[in-house]
Amino acid sequence: MVSHYNEVYQKWQESPDAFWAKAAKGIDWYRSWDKIRDDLSSTSSRWFSGAVTNTCYNALDRHVERGRGDQPALIYDSAVTEKTISFSYCELRDAVAHFAGALERAGLRYGDRVIVYMPMVPETVVAILACARIGVIHSVVFGGFAAKELATRIDDAQPKLIIAASCGIEADRVIPYKPLVDKAVKLAQFKPELCIILQRPQHEATLELPRDIDWREFVEGAKPSECAKVKATDPLYILYTSGTTGVPKGVVRDNGGHMVALSWSMKNIYGINPGEVFWAASDVGWVVGHSYIIYGPLLHGATTILYEGKPVGTPDPGAFWRVISQHNVSTLFTAPTAFRAIRREDPEARHLAHYELSRFRTLFLAGERSDPETLRWAEQNLGVPVIDHWWQTETGWPVTANCAGLGFFPVKHGSPGKPVPGFDVRVLDENGEEVPNGTTGSLALRLPLPPGCLPTLWNNDVGYRDSYLSEFDGFYATADAGFIDDEGYVYVMSRTDDIINVAGHRLSTGGIEEVLASHPNVAECAVIGVADKVKGQVPLGLVVLKSGVNRPTRDIENELVELVRDRIGPVASYKISRIINRLPKTRSGKVLRATMRCIADGTPYRMPATIDDPSILSEITDSLHQIGLGIEAKEDSS
Ligand code: COA
Ligand code: AMP
Repeated sequence: MVSHYNEVYQKWQESPDAFWAKAAKGIDWYRSWDKIRDDLSSTSSRWFSGAVTNTCYNALDRHVERGRGDQPALIYDSAVTEKTISFSYCELRDAVAHFAGALERAGLRYGDRVIVYMPMVPETVVAILACARIGVIHSVVFGGFAAKELATRIDDAQPKLIIAASCGIEADRVIPYKPLVDKAVKLAQFKPELCIILQRPQHEATLELPRDIDWREFVEGAKPSECAKVKATDPLYILYTSGTTGVPKGVVRDNGGHMVALSWSMKNIYGINPGEVFWAASDVGWVVGHSYIIYGPLLHGATTILYEGKPVGTPDPGAFWRVISQHNVSTLFTAPTAFRAIRREDPEARHLAHYELSRFRTLFLAGERSDPETLRWAEQNLGVPVIDHWWQTETGWPVTANCAGLGFFPVKHGSPGKPVPGFDVRVLDENGEEVPNGTTGSLALRLPLPPGCLPTLWNNDVGYRDSYLSEFDGFYATADAGFIDDEGYVYVMSRTDDIINVAGHRLSTGGIEEVLASHPNVAECAVIGVADKVKGQVPLGLVVLKSGVNRPTRDIENELVELVRDRIGPVASYKISRIINRLPKTRSGKVLRATMRCIADGTPYRMPATIDDPSILSEITDSLHQIGLGIEAKEDSS
C-alpha cells in the first residue's frame, strides 16, 4: 500500500476542525457539540464542548446493538494461573452494567472518584468500564507501587472507594495486595468509605469490617445500570505519572476527545479493523493499558487481550509467540524491554518455531527509546514491520508513528517516525527558537494539543501550566530532547528532566532521592539512571553518609534498597547504592549528575570546567568499578 501519510497530515494542517469533525463520526453522541474546539484561553482548549456522550456505551453497548454481541471483546490469558477466559461483547457489557449497578447502590455518583489497585484480571476491566458507565472518575494505580505511593494518590484523588484484589501474581510469586491497601489507607489523610476486595484463590485476604467488602457480596442482587449521559469535556479518568518531584501528577483524560483520538488511532495508526485481535502487552496501571488494552480496541469493536504474565519465565521466552498464535493476534504493542528480555533468553528465537504466526502483521514498540539492535532482531525473526512510536502518559496516544492504516513510509531505525496528524512537533532551543533540522533541542508540541491529550492536571491547573506550558510560549514542552531530520523523521534521544525509564516504566530520580535522604544516616545523595541491557535504565544511588556514622556500609546499602521498595515499590527496580565520600559538584553547588552517568555507563565525559574538586571523580570511578559499572569510563581529552 502506498503511504497516504503526507496527504492526511496536510489535510489536518489545512483544516483541523474539519479533520476532527470527520473523525468524531466514529463515535456515538447523545448530543452533538456546540464547538469542535473551544479555546478557553491561548493555552487551554476543550474538545467537543457541549457534546453529551458515554465512553462505556461506545466501548460496549453500541457494538452489542449493532451485531457484535457474540464477538469476543476481551480475552483474558493468564500465563501465571494457566487460565484463558473469553468474554463476548454481550457478556462484558452485562458484567459491567451489573457492577456499575452495585456501585450506584453503594452511593457512587457522577463525578465521584474510585481508585482501582488491581492486577491484570478481567474484573479490573469490568471495574474501570463500570465507572465510565455511570460517570464516576477512575484512577488506576499500578500494582507494583508501594503503600506510600498509593496513599499519595488517595489524598489527591479523594476516592469514595477503593477497588482492589487480594493479591497479584508475579511469575512464580504471589504478592498480597491487601496489606498494601490497609497501610495506604492508614497513611492517607483522606479516608475512603469502602474497599471492595476481589478474593483470588491464590491468597485470600482478611477483610477489615465494616470498611471492606468481598467483591461477590458487593455485586450480589445489584440491578444493571444504564449508561449515564456525560459531557464530552467531563473527566473520564485520572492517571498519576512521575513528575520531577516525588509528588506524582494527576493526568486528566476527558470523555469525548479521548474517544475520538483513540478510535481514529486504531484504524489509522495501528491499521486494525473491527473484529480483529489487538494485543497491548502492558499493564492496565499504565497509560498504554488504559488506551490500548481497554479503551482503544473496545471503542473500535476489536478484540483485546488481557495478558497476565511476563515475556519470559511464564514459562519461557516463547510466551508472546504462544499468545499471538493461540488468539490470532494481528498486532502487538509492547515496550522494547520485553523484546530485550526475550532476546537475552532466546537469542536465536528458537521458540518461534513452535508457533504459527501467519495472522500476525505488525509489532509496535514504545515507552522508551528502541535501540536499533533490538528492532533489527525483531524484524529479522518476526518478518513483519516493527514500528517504533513515541508518546507519553500526558498525550494518551502517539505523537509520532509510522501509521499502518495510512500505509507505511520507509522505517528509519532510531526514529519513532513522523508526527501523527494532530501533532505539530518542533525542536526548540533554550530561548524557544526553532533550531535547524538535525540540531538537537527540546521537543515541543505547538498548541493546541489534539483531542485525547490532557486538558489539565487533577485539581491543579497551575501545576499544569507550570509543568508543560510555561517553558515555551505557545507550546507544550514534552521534556524530551531530540531532533528532526531533513525528511521530517523525529528522533527522541533523552529526557530533559530527571525522569528515567526503567523497563518502560517512568520514574523520577528526584523521588528516589527524597526516599534515600530520609534514611537517618544519609547526609546527601544523587540518583542517576544507568544503562541496563534489559531494562534500558536502572536507578543507581550515590550516597554520602553523615559524619560520624561508622556502621557497615553493606548494611546501610541494603537498608536503602529496602526503603525504596517500601516507599516507592518494587517497580522502581532500585537495587544498587554506593556509599561515597562526597558528591561531585560545581563551584556553585550543582551536583554533576550527567558526569556521574557517563562514568557509570563507561562513556567518555568532559571534565566540567566548574567542578570544585576533580579528584572526587576518580574516587567514584573506582567505587563503580568494584561493582562492574563504568569499566570503559575515561575522561575525554579531545
Ligand atoms: N505488582 C507487584 N509487583 C510488581 C508488579 C505488580 N503488578 N509488576 C512488577 N512488579 C515487581 C516485579 O515482581 C519486580 O520485583 P522484584 O524486584 O522483586 O523481582 C519489580 O516489580 C520490577 O518489575 P519489572 O519491571 O516488571 O521487572 P522484571 O524483572 O520482573 O521483568 C521485564 C522485566 C522486562 C520482563 C518486564 O519489565 C516486562 O515485561 N516489561 C514489559 C514492558 C511493559 O510492560 N512496559 C510498560 C509500559 S508499555
Ligand atoms: P510514559 O509517560 O510513562 O509513557 O513515558 C513517556 C516517556 O517515555 C516519554 O516522554 C519518553 O521519554 C519515553 N518514550 C516513550 N516512547 C518513546 C519512544 N518511542 N522513543 C523514545 N522515548 C520514548
